[in-house]
Amino acid sequence: MVKTIKLLFIGDVVGQPGLITFGKWASKLKEQYGADAIIVNGENSAKNGRGLSPKTLDFFKHHGAAVITSGNHVWENRELHSAIKQREDVIRPVNYPAGCPGKGYAFIEVCGYTVAIVNIHGRVFVRDLLDCPFRGIESLLTFIKTKTNIIFVDFHAEATAEKRAMGFFLDGKVSAVVGTHTHVPTADEQVLPEGTAYITDVGYVGALNSVIGMQAEGVLQKFLYAQHLGKFTVDCRGAMELNGVCVEINTETGLAVAIERIRIIDHEVSGLLTQEDRT
Ligand SMILES: [Fe+2]
Ligand SMILES: [Fe+2]
Repeated sequence: MVKTIKLLFIGDVVGQPGLITFGKWASKLKEQYGADAIIVNGENSAKNGRGLSPKTLDFFKHHGAAVITSGNHVWENRELHSAIKQREDVIRPVNYPAGCPGKGYAFIEVCGYTVAIVNIHGRVFVRDLLDCPFRGIESLLTFIKTKTNIIFVDFHAEATAEKRAMGFFLDGKVSAVVGTHTHVPTADEQVLPEGTAYITDVGYVGALNSVIGMQAEGVLQKFLYAQHLGKFTVDCRGAMELNGVCVEINTETGLAVAIERIRIIDHEVSGLLTQEDRT
């Protein structure tokens, strides 16, 4: 019988409400879906929703995450710059220019199999001057394939077309390509023709009645009056959403058997947040 493993991936976790929601659900979902490892995008897990910190990394680890991926907010918390050099469990997009701290991939052991987790970043509608994600992962795969054919890719990108293009570019070469960054889940999960699991965007973890995790009032001020009155505020109110996918992978071929979308609406977490969490 062919052996498979299942990887649970949770999208961008925003601020304290996102973290507490992740903490509540991660291991429950792992058990419910029979997943063997948890991967999470933590790029918004700092209290203000911008960047990650050693503290939030430890929180993810404590709640079962094997690897924490990131994206464009990765450099916003200075504490992370030294942490990412020392830790193997947090990665940044591989196509940041050479010389940036940290790595774009991590290897973990899952049920006795080596699994590579890779993070790449799109360039369409993105301000940072990044290297080509397509060429970047192409050359990285030459190295990774010497270690394993079980490869899970978090493609952090804005444009849906760029993400779908990456899916087809990597179809049959990696186990999964999952999109992050927009915080809005898409309903196009599928196994592509050559066997790679794909979704354009997994979605995020944070307040349901918000604009991608931030209080709608502040965001509307910007759209209605072109005024940005300080930083946006992480929304800690009301129901929380948690979005993820579970991908089943054939350990012999490294190709996907199935991808399943997960969406939880939680009405209890906001009541658990302390005053400190909210400020
Ligand atoms: Fe992002
Ligand atoms: Fe994000």
